[in-house]
Amino acid sequence: MKVRKAVIPAAGLGTRMLPASKTVPKEMLPLVDKPVLQYIIEEAVEAGIEDILIITNRSKSPMDDYFDYYPELERRLSESGKEKELAAIRRPADLANIFYVRQKETKGLGHAIGRARRFVGDEPFAVLLGDDIMRYQKPVIGQLIEAAEKYDASVIGVQEVADEAVSKYGIVKVEPLDGKAFTIRDMQEKPKVEEKFSNYAILGRYVLKPEIFDLLEKQTPGVGGEIQLTDSLKTLCTQDRMIGVDFEGRRYDTGNLKGFMEATIDFALDHPETGEWLKSFLKDKAAQL
Ligand code: UTP
Repeated sequence: MKVRKAVIPAAGLGTRMLPASKTVPKEMLPLVDKPVLQYIIEEAVEAGIEDILIITNRSKSPMDDYFDYYPELERRLSESGKEKELAAIRRPADLANIFYVRQKETKGLGHAIGRARRFVGDEPFAVLLGDDIMRYQKPVIGQLIEAAEKYDASVIGVQEVADEAVSKYGIVKVEPLDGKAFTIRDMQEKPKVEEKFSNYAILGRYVLKPEIFDLLEKQTPGVGGEIQLTDSLKTLCTQDRMIGVDFEGRRYDTGNLKGFMEATIDFALDHPETGEWLKSFLKDKAAQL
């Protein structure tokens, strides 16, 4: 089974990033010098994905503008010899074949994924949440794709989280399989800590078989009155093989202020133009605190 397509749900309202996200989609907020969404698309492309569907809504048009050419600006940069800037603004448009579909009502992540059915057809596909960024040696979605191909199964990226955090995530019940791979037996959405199956949380990356679409269509609203992807995955894992991969890499939730700031600092430290400067700036700051 070859995974060629990816779906990026990015139609959430972004209420945790207000007021910034009122008119700029949270996926388009700049992390150092690129919007959040570009990092996610680059991860998918590095993992061999060719076709990407972004689930948007009526307030997200800056996304399709960004992944397009901008002839007037390109001409101006070219005439003034700004080759580096020219390459940087053309790159997003040349990364992949990008498609868009709107989620017309904000009814939850499961509902958003359901909008991808026509695009996906009858093949396994990757899902990368539009506000979850990874810092990695090897693309996290690529690690999941490898497991999906090896086990011919749906795969979910998981990592252990602290007890205080389990109520923020989808949590899985696992049985050991092979090193960092587990068999998923059950799952729950945002459980109370007393009811948790484990500390393994679902963190924004999936490879799913197309059987998920029938389940999503029948899915009744769950936590928060939304169509939850986790509820349909819970059913899918009883019908078919599902693997959890404890992936290598650091995940940041850029959909909340603290996660966004952590990502900004770590990516700025990695960046060749800002890394050394930021390190000495932070050292000076820390000495004053
Ligand atoms: P989040 O819960 O992190 O995003 O959804 P949100 O709803 O934008 O956040 P807040 O709570 O209001 O701040 C996880 C992912 O699912 C997408 C989001 O864009 C995000 O990538 N999503 C969520 C949709 O595409 N549609 C929805 O109806 C809900």
